[in-house]
Amino acid sequence: MKVYEVDEFGIENLRIAERDIDPPGDDEVLVRFHAASVNYRDLMVIEGTYNPRMKRPAIPFSDGAGEVVAIGDAVTKWRVGDRVMPIFAQRWFDGGSSEEKRRSSLGAGAQWDGVLREYGSFSEESVVRIPEHLSYEEAATLACAALTAWHAVVESGRTKPGETVLTLGTGGVSIFAIQFAKMAGARVFSTSGSYEKIGKLTDLGVDGTVNYREIENWDKAVLDLTERKGVDHTVEVGGAGTLQRSVNATRISGHVAMIGALTGGDAFNPTPVFMRSIRLQGIFTGSRRMFEDMNRAISANKLRPVIDRSFEFHQVKEALEYLKSGSHFGKIVVRIGEGP
Ligand SMILES: NC(=O)c1ccc[n+]([C@@H]2O[C@H](COP(=O)([O-])OP(=O)(O)OC[C@H]3O[C@@H](n4cnc5c(N)ncnc54)[C@H](OP(=O)(O)O)[C@@H]3O)[C@@H](O)[C@H]2O)c1
Repeated sequence: MKVYEVDEFGIENLRIAERDIDPPGDDEVLVRFHAASVNYRDLMVIEGTYNPRMKRPAIPFSDGAGEVVAIGDAVTKWRVGDRVMPIFAQRWFDGGSSEEKRRSSLGAGAQWDGVLREYGSFSEESVVRIPEHLSYEEAATLACAALTAWHAVVESGRTKPGETVLTLGTGGVSIFAIQFAKMAGARVFSTSGSYEKIGKLTDLGVDGTVNYREIENWDKAVLDLTERKGVDHTVEVGGAGTLQRSVNATRISGHVAMIGALTGGDAFNPTPVFMRSIRLQGIFTGSRRMFEDMNRAISANKLRPVIDRSFEFHQVKEALEYLKSGSHFGKIVVRIGEGP
């Protein structure tokens, strides 16, 4: 089978290699992948900024979708032909995170090879069913970006109808957060650095927008959108460069789900966090149980992931450069093999 390998860091050094298909063990299913999606993390893994000591050669990417083509003798949950997605952290089934669970994440080292390959064997406990109405390409967007947004908005936020949610930028996590917040009946305010993307946010049903490139103190603009109170929940993907303003834009006793680090910035002033009783909650993807909860909600609401562009397997470097350019809105997908 064909796989992508990271050996030397750098997009230009990513290479296609031939490996044997690993046959499924007794309790494993062999998945033939049809699609994978690109996350910001994959860019960091490939460029060597995620974990410079990562064991190599390693197969990158965490999010894939495919069909079961063979099963081990002891497998009871799956049959050949079932459509499945491997879970992001292969040993995180339920409960809180732990070092062992976190370390079982796909696509960031040779021990837990990723999904940028034609076939892979996974424990029958470590894959979940694809919602029926979704294509393989759509399903390939769920394991990391969607699950993290679900964890922030639904699990950690317990967002209620009529509450307000703030999202930053229009990358994969933020667009899913908008979709889940709308699903929960919330009013959603979103920032973006592009007027073209702000038009798309409005089409998606967002209730108010701010261009953070045009309005440097966008936190004040968000306060204006909320009668000066601030939002109930902020889905914080920017990191050091946006956190202070995210805290400012959140109401007293509100919730900031800390997810990402897209930007660098100055020293953070913690005073508003305690003076205004803000709940800062770190979020790391999610468990299989959360993934299954999310999939039920996606099915019930016939939610469709927003895919900006799909690339062919031989175009993975272009897909990564496209993500790096920040031109995308939502998810970027890579097709694998000849399709179903
Ligand atoms: N904790 C976890 O488990 C977890 C899981 C998934 C992702 N993450 C992290 O979350 C972050 C987002 O991931 P992703 O995959 O959604 O990334 P992505 O798709 O690459 O998002 C890129 C978008 O972020 C926006 N952006 C960039 N700089 C910004 C700024 N200063 N203010 C506001 N928005 C800005 C831009 O949107 P506009 O063009 O609209 O401005 C850009 O298009 C990354 O840091 C990633 O590592 C963490």
